Amino acid sequence: MLSKTLLAEMNAQINKELYSAYLYLAMSAHFEEANLGGFAKWMSLQAKEEQEHAEKFYEYIHDRGGKVELKAIDAPVSNFGTPLDVFKLVQEHEKAVTASINGLYAQAVKDNDYAAQVFLNWFVNEQVEEEKNATEVVGWLEMVGGSPNGLFQVNGLMYRRAE
Ligand code: FEO
Repeated sequence: MLSKTLLAEMNAQINKELYSAYLYLAMSAHFEEANLGGFAKWMSLQAKEEQEHAEKFYEYIHDRGGKVELKAIDAPVSNFGTPLDVFKLVQEHEKAVTASINGLYAQAVKDNDYAAQVFLNWFVNEQVEEEKNATEVVGWLEMVGGSPNGLFQVNGLMYRRAE
């Protein structure tokens, strides 16, 4: 059985993951409208990943005999700046998600809940990947420094994301 605190935090994490999906979907729409299909595809795949993250928590809560409680999802930000601004926002957002996952892990340690720690290990590793991916794109966009030709090339690279 999950502790009451850890259960509440995992339910809150479902909401955060779904908000992430919503945020990245909004970013995907923004890029679609700007005719940057590679960026839009990257964001759309990212939104699907976030939904899968939420589903992992959803299933795990059930596996541990807990009650899933779904709360309202906030509307995502909708006025975005340059692609670099957007990806800096992704970077910041993922850092906040990492802090949240670390908080869950700390609670699992406090509870001596070894099973939850094993489950959360996957997310600890995933956050390393998530931050790395956002940082990579920030790096590319900083490299091209707003040049339309550079942006066109980065957009082409973004199409390569497979999952
Ligand atoms: Fe589910 Fe992007 O962290």
